[in-house]
Amino acid sequence: MSVLHLTVFLGLFSFNLALDNGLALTPPMGWLTWQRFRCITDCVKYPNECISEALIKRTADRMVDEGYLKAGYNYVGIDDCWLEKERDVHGNLVPDRQRFPNGMKAVADYLHDRGFKFALYQDYGTKTCMGYPGVLGHEAGDINSFVKWDVDYIKLDGCFIDTAKMDEGYPYFGKLLNDSGRPIVYSCSWPAYQKEPNYASIAKHCNLWRNWDDIQDSWGSLSSIMTWFAEHQDEFTKYAGPGQWNDPDMLLIGNFGLSLDQAKVQMAVWSILAAPLLMSVDLDTIRQEFKEILLNRDIINIDQDSLGKPGSRVWNQSKCEIWNRKLADESYALAFVNRRDDGAPYSVKVSFDSMKIPKQAYEVNDLYKEEMDRSFGPTGEFETRINPSGVKFYKFIPKKFNEIDVKT
Ligand SMILES: *[C@@H]1O[C@H](CO)[C@@H](O)[C@H](O)[C@H]1NC(C)=O
Ligand SMILES: *[C@@H]1O[C@H](CO)[C@@H](O)[C@H](O)[C@H]1NC(C)=O
Repeated sequence: MSVLHLTVFLGLFSFNLALDNGLALTPPMGWLTWQRFRCITDCVKYPNECISEALIKRTADRMVDEGYLKAGYNYVGIDDCWLEKERDVHGNLVPDRQRFPNGMKAVADYLHDRGFKFALYQDYGTKTCMGYPGVLGHEAGDINSFVKWDVDYIKLDGCFIDTAKMDEGYPYFGKLLNDSGRPIVYSCSWPAYQKEPNYASIAKHCNLWRNWDDIQDSWGSLSSIMTWFAEHQDEFTKYAGPGQWNDPDMLLIGNFGLSLDQAKVQMAVWSILAAPLLMSVDLDTIRQEFKEILLNRDIINIDQDSLGKPGSRVWNQSKCEIWNRKLADESYALAFVNRRDDGAPYSVKVSFDSMKIPKQAYEVNDLYKEEMDRSFGPTGEFETRINPSGVKFYKFIPKKFNEIDVKT
């Protein structure tokens, strides 16, 4: 068997283990209501924040006008709290009549007309986490509604259901989605509710899955998620790839809880993890410096790298750590994260072994453009200085042989 054949064969083999609906070949990017807008339903008191058609429309407009769509953020999603509290007499889900006066198909049309895809939340249990009707016992009918409304992405939460039932329930719902014939990205909250998730099965049935706790608007929450992902990375990193992604939850960037440096940490580490990039922020009021982080093309390219192989934390010492991701072009994305809080920027000096990169010569580009590009290797140690709760994020690009030694 030639190398080419072997590659093709292995490629097919691994593809068969994935959910084969042709979707989410790179981590989904977009905007979701939950983290910023939660379950705000009082449009009289909070007209600019309530979960409503108006919020979706103004966000979509912003995403077009300000370049988010162009940068790749093409899913716009409504999380919990879009429903009436009761189904109709036929057992159908009913979007809130005040806040979605034209129904969900009108929302989908608005988004599709502008080049977006439409994401919607539901829950596998009897109720959603906030107490609206869940899909249990109504799976097929509800998928019918989603198809009628032209939904492109379903986030299926796991409140109000026995977690032991999820191992069959999530695949069953996925099968019904497939039977519907409409390509719908399937985001599962399944592992987040279980102690020992069966990731092989999850990766086979879902395009992405929430591994752990909800993110909250603070450095403490972000930091705990990074720690958890690092400590558990051997359990699930290997299951991610085109069509199947681990999901450490939404981006906090641009909201209240993160400093500029902390926001840079999230964008860097999320791109190393090949995480979905789902903003949840008021795009009418976001400050320019946060917007620049979300629109950093070099970092988006790392997240969306075609190899689709997530990275991991490869080193930590004295509350500093290195996150490493190998990219399709043989270069490496390396995030140096400082979790210290003792004032001045902290210097680290590390070997090739610590960084887990081959010993060779590199051109090193700072992805946040705070430093000049530099050369490093093929020997020596790499030194960098990182702000407290901050990051230095580099792309290490191997120098071609003829750029270094061949001087004839
Ligand atoms: C349904 O599954 C088949 C086989 O895995 C796949 O080829 C097809 O694209 C899927 N269709 C949808 C709509 O998900
Ligand atoms: C590495 O990080 C973990 C937390 O994820 C911590 O418990 C451990 O002590 C760290 N090791 C070092 C050498 O700092």
